[in-house]
Amino acid sequence: MKKFVSLSVNGITHDLAVEPRRTLAELLREDLGLTGTKKGCGIGDCGACTVLMDGVATFSCLTLAIQADGCSVETVEGLAEEGRLNRLQRAFVDQGAIQCGFCTPGMLMMGTELLRNNPRPSEKDIRRAMSGNLCRCTGYQKIVEAIQKVSEETP
Ligand code: FES
Ligand code: FES
Repeated sequence: MKKFVSLSVNGITHDLAVEPRRTLAELLREDLGLTGTKKGCGIGDCGACTVLMDGVATFSCLTLAIQADGCSVETVEGLAEEGRLNRLQRAFVDQGAIQCGFCTPGMLMMGTELLRNNPRPSEKDIRRAMSGNLCRCTGYQKIVEAIQKVSEETP
């Protein structure tokens, strides 16, 4: 039997009836059409599906949609500011941190959480924070440099 959930996604409230086994990743991608959140492994190994749930980086493939009831969810679609890439997105582009781009939304969301909690992370902090996000194109160095760039520009 479906359950009703009410959640905010990128500042917009959605009231939906969902199957209890439906994941948050499925709700975002299939019910709300927010396909920026990627589904890679589906078992918590790759981080491609990372979103922020009440500000905390969360694997949406391992999270049931009903667990997000009453929560505020942020996805990659919510990062742009006034229709423009935000600083972290821009840094990924400028530093060449994007290859195929499949891991990029998850990397951006994890990087967003890191920079909010620690605006000046060391390289070690960055590598530790991003260690659960896999890039099959192995672009790790550029991703670290993009986050460092934003950190260095933070007043
Ligand atoms: S798709 Fe969620 S961790 Fe890989
Ligand atoms: S850029 Fe291709 S998986 Fe990371």
